[in-house]
Amino acid sequence: MNILITGATGFIGKHLCVALTQQGHHVMALMRNPDKLRSLREFVQGSGGQPERITVMQGDLEKPGLGLSSALEGIDCIVHLAARFAWNLAPDEARRTNVTGSLHVAELAKQLDCRLIFITGFMLANETHLAHLGINLSQPDQTRWQDVYRRTGAYEASKLESAFALRHYTQEHGMDAVEIQPATVAGHNTTGEIDPTQPLFSLIDNVFHGRMALIPGSPAHWLPLIPVDTLALVIAAACGVEQPPLRLLVLDNKTPNLQGLLRTLTMTMGMKAPRWHLPIPVMQWLLKLPGLARVLNVYPEALDFIQSQSYNTLDFQRFLASMRIPEPAFSEYIQTTAQYYRSLAPE
Ligand SMILES: NC(=O)c1ccc[n+]([C@@H]2O[C@H](COP(=O)([O-])OP(=O)(O)OC[C@H]3O[C@@H](n4cnc5c(N)ncnc54)[C@H](OP(=O)(O)O)[C@@H]3O)[C@@H](O)[C@H]2O)c1
Repeated sequence: MNILITGATGFIGKHLCVALTQQGHHVMALMRNPDKLRSLREFVQGSGGQPERITVMQGDLEKPGLGLSSALEGIDCIVHLAARFAWNLAPDEARRTNVTGSLHVAELAKQLDCRLIFITGFMLANETHLAHLGINLSQPDQTRWQDVYRRTGAYEASKLESAFALRHYTQEHGMDAVEIQPATVAGHNTTGEIDPTQPLFSLIDNVFHGRMALIPGSPAHWLPLIPVDTLALVIAAACGVEQPPLRLLVLDNKTPNLQGLLRTLTMTMGMKAPRWHLPIPVMQWLLKLPGLARVLNVYPEALDFIQSQSYNTLDFQRFLASMRIPEPAFSEYIQTTAQYYRSLAPE
């Protein structure tokens, strides 16, 4: 297949390029800066993929028509991963890339008459949380998005708005579309490789530097994870499967509660685990004190992803089984991720 990927240079995108090229597919990477092709190919080569199967097309989500210099043809599937992924974004900035930019990608998929796989997040499967943020689930177009942006961070609000906008657009045009909802992404199952910009990397860094003296939330709170290579294999499988699911929650239900996650991390790094909990609203309030979020390297909006909600992952498990993708083993991938972190961090 010929697969166009937005966000190929990102953490998930790089691993997806490995999986797709290993399976013999051709990847066209849409990049703002085509000079990054070289490092992407080096990563793919070093990870056992086929770098010569990757070509580049310059483009930017924020430009009309994605700013493409020439017409595309022969694309079988678009995987849309690109996003402004950071805390403390200005709402306009987040919307421009994550909402308007995503609609530009959907327009291209419609024009090319190809499958669109778009990546949202596991919070889309937490309806209690969505309702709490003020999202009108029966009539999403009635949602007052400016209120949602006020209640949660601009990154998360823009991803939620984008998910509803893409669902509407793809349904309205009868498109072949798949929504993938990943949990927070962990390092590679066997190498533990994880980008320093990833939220889990920051969490491990905080643990290592003793900034996690208290556990956010209660014993019921958890941060569901999924290793990056398992996610990449799932996305790659969704590109080619004849009858893909409309939506797929990609989440390791065996992720323990946050206390258990922190215990495993501290054990792997030979440190003492935190024991006491602090309610998340209290923590979020404290983090609004000037400068504290930066010093502690924890942003109030990041804590929104720690919830007590449980998820039904039967469809995901069936998908893994039907595609012969191994189920991830929490204790293995969390240890390799922590070990990878330790291999980068100074003593
Ligand atoms: N990582 C997670 O824990 C997680 C969990 C759930 C969902 N997701 C979603 O998964 C997707 C990928 O996440 P990630 O962790 O791989 O992100 P990432 O490492 O931050 O990568 C973001 C990618 O988006 C590209 N990009 C940003 N703005 C762009 C623009 N205007 N035009 C074209 N490309 C642009 C970046 O390209 P440059 O090289 O040009 O900067 C980069 O390749 C995102 O949609 C994210 O919301 C991630």
